[in-house]
Amino acid sequence: MHLTVIGTGYVGLVTGTCFAEMGNFVTCVDVDEDKIRDLRQGKIPIYEPGLERLVVSNHAAGRLKFTTSLAEAMAESTVYFIAVGTPPGVDGSADLQYVLAVAREIGRHMDRYGVVVDKSTVPIGTAEKVRTAIQNELDERGAQVDFDVVSNPEFLKEGAAVDDFMRPDRIVIGTDSERARGVMHTLYADFSRNHDRILFMGVRDAEMTKYAANAMLATKISFMNEIAALCDGLDIDVENVRLGIGSDARIGYSFIYPGCGYGGSCFPKDVKALIYMAEQHRLDPMILGSVHRRNEAQKNVLFAKIVDHFGSDLSGKTFGVWGLAFKPGTDDMREAPSVALLQALVAAGARVKAFDPVAMTTARRELPATWFENGSLALVEDQYEAVADTDALILVTEWKPFRHPDFQALKELLRTSVVFDGRNQYDPAKMGRDGFVYYGIGRGASPD
Ligand SMILES: NC(=O)c1ccc[n+]([C@@H]2O[C@H](COP(=O)([O-])OP(=O)(O)OC[C@H]3O[C@@H](n4cnc5c(N)ncnc54)[C@H](O)[C@@H]3O)[C@@H](O)[C@H]2O)c1
Repeated sequence: MHLTVIGTGYVGLVTGTCFAEMGNFVTCVDVDEDKIRDLRQGKIPIYEPGLERLVVSNHAAGRLKFTTSLAEAMAESTVYFIAVGTPPGVDGSADLQYVLAVAREIGRHMDRYGVVVDKSTVPIGTAEKVRTAIQNELDERGAQVDFDVVSNPEFLKEGAAVDDFMRPDRIVIGTDSERARGVMHTLYADFSRNHDRILFMGVRDAEMTKYAANAMLATKISFMNEIAALCDGLDIDVENVRLGIGSDARIGYSFIYPGCGYGGSCFPKDVKALIYMAEQHRLDPMILGSVHRRNEAQKNVLFAKIVDHFGSDLSGKTFGVWGLAFKPGTDDMREAPSVALLQALVAAGARVKAFDPVAMTTARRELPATWFENGSLALVEDQYEAVADTDALILVTEWKPFRHPDFQALKELLRTSVVFDGRNQYDPAKMGRDGFVYYGIGRGASPD
């Protein structure tokens, strides 16, 4: 099949590339000219394991093309995936300006039956808005063209996006059109050969399924973070509690790691968007509101522990930060807990040396230039260089190379052997014996 994918970010580029890998002919469209130029040269704008190889090979095979012209892409295809961003507006609502701009442009160029697929995460009712936007453009031109708008939310995880797309747990397709259902089934059957993973449902059901899934996962994390806060207060080790409850199959081990808060481009914005939708319908989003508030508070927990130890004036102190990405496996720093921590440290007068295995370019681009200029923040090329001559190590992102550090080297490099562990990677008993002062999340009232 010939497809168009609009938006070449984390979702669009993975979607287009994986469809091309299955033999389809895909044109990826983006308004960002630099991105398209780089992609044509085989340069991938994001870090995503396994993606670069697939982009390069499918591009070379002529199955994957890149352009800034939607009209050019649409001339060759009849299925159009919208995968542009839906960032949060000031009131928490999902900002649909990019989705609707694409819909209008599709309407301006559509000249035969087409299936328009909402792959972006969009509020309930968006498919209708997309349909109206396209229809208005068609009416303007006096064009009589049939089309369907389908909701096909994406569930991939950054850091494992290619694998998730190739071997999805489920493929959710919301449509009430038999014709569109046939097109989507043909397209996705390749990803569903082992057993049927395609779930057809109504358009609004599909839109809600995406939000409900993310809100459920965010709820598990915030719930566990609240239990961790209680564990700190009651002098209990939350890691034992985690193992104790995770062994119950009804609860399971996934998504119950306490930490310094969830981030990224999905959970925070999708929880906020669902809260906004509830309020618009005069429903009190009691659980969702708490999930969000707990997460905001959680981003300050590490800093509060730092202040407990060092006092509120951190001038003259230097901290080594390991991990800037919002989670391992990605260079994405959107709403990352590291950013809230850095803001608090810099505001309290501290200096920071930070290292991340892949998010350094993102950090250089997205963190305030003044931090670099006035010496508040230095990005360094090695995890041990980040802690040399600093007052404490702060672990923020649980990248694998941070799991078993050389504790002896750490002790020699740090001015004082203090560790703030935002992901509970280290065993406090062991580190305690080794003479570290250890602060984890929910590991008890006082440091080991
Ligand atoms: N990132 C994830 O892990 C993930 C997972 C599932 C769903 N989603 C959802 O998918 C959507 C996209 O997320 P993302 O992380 O890929 O976003 P992103 O910000 O990485 O990429 C969006 C891209 O769209 C491009 N764009 C904007 N307007 C355009 C236009 N008019 N025409 C062509 N291109 C345009 C931008 O230049 C950018 O390259 C969002 O709704 C998000 O919530 C994201």
